[in-house]
Amino acid sequence: MTAYAKTNTFYISIWFWLILGVKSYDGWSNYVLTIQTGGSVTIPCHYDKKYTQQKKYWFSEIDKSNTYTNTTDENLSVIDHPDQSLFTVTMRNLQNKHKGHYYCVVETGEQPPINITYEPYLKIQSAPDVSVVSSSVSGHEGGDISVKCLYSSRYQNKLKQWCRYKDQSCYTVGRADTSQNSSVQISDDDDGRSSFTVLMTGLRRTDSGWYFCSAGEALNPVHLTVTEDDKYKNTCKSSYVSKKAFHL
Ligand SMILES: *[C@@H]1O[C@H](CO)[C@@H](O)[C@H](O)[C@H]1NC(C)=O
Ligand SMILES: *[C@@H]1O[C@H](CO)[C@@H](O)[C@H](O)[C@H]1NC(C)=O
Ligand SMILES: *[C@@H]1O[C@H](CO)[C@@H](O)[C@H](O)[C@H]1NC(C)=O
Ligand SMILES: *[C@@H]1O[C@H](CO)[C@@H](O)[C@H](O)[C@H]1NC(C)=O
Repeated sequence: MTAYAKTNTFYISIWFWLILGVKSYDGWSNYVLTIQTGGSVTIPCHYDKKYTQQKKYWFSEIDKSNTYTNTTDENLSVIDHPDQSLFTVTMRNLQNKHKGHYYCVVETGEQPPINITYEPYLKIQSAPDVSVVSSSVSGHEGGDISVKCLYSSRYQNKLKQWCRYKDQSCYTVGRADTSQNSSVQISDDDDGRSSFTVLMTGLRRTDSGWYFCSAGEALNPVHLTVTEDDKYKNTCKSSYVSKKAFHL
């Protein structure tokens, strides 16, 4: 009975994505996050609102260690943002020994604890496979932002996407699909560099959040902040402040 209901839900969601023409990424297990030696990365872990009060941690399969939220160390910070139903994990000074699997976990009281996300496999290498010029961008309501995603030349013929973590919706380079949202344009750059550019127009406050660029199985997260459209505010100043806040 349960199995039947699950299968049904599965088909319904497939149809949902087909109708919308938006392709979802199927979990994290196929993805790889490649970071330059000595580099840093911030990863979001989204959770259901009902877990706001529960304890959450970042689990490293390498040394089987748990790092609970609101822990700040020299090389690792795990910070809860209950207002956004997510916690962020920042890893710094990454070395080859950090290579491996990590999980975002919510302590629900059930055994085993709920595994909310199985994060992409982390790989440390001399040059990342996918990177972004800035991992934090900001724009204001009604305005535009563009994000340049760089990929290694061996990914030239791979699928290139821009995905939102929260609802798992993706936009694909070269897909002239009219059902794709016209406020998001994504195109390969013609300047001889291995890169593609995502342009989001007519920004809304609700577009704020976590996204990622991917090429093949390699991805890189990007945080977008959409600030209030306030004519009396100095937008240059506010974008400077939010950029700074993410480059700690
Ligand atoms: C942070 O990483 C650096 C570089 O690998 C290392 O030398 C340092 O001991 C680390 N700090 C902590 C607290 O582990
Ligand atoms: C962690 O910090 C966030 C904001 O910094 C706060 O809202 C939240 O309540 C804290 N959580 C815990 C468990 O202390
Ligand atoms: C999370 O899920 C993965 C893959 O199913 C599993 O290998 C891992 O042990 C789980 N981790 C925890 C803490 O439940
Ligand atoms: C189109 O995308 C924009 C930006 O992500 C979003 O605000 C808007 O709700 C989307 N519209 C539809 C019909 O999906």
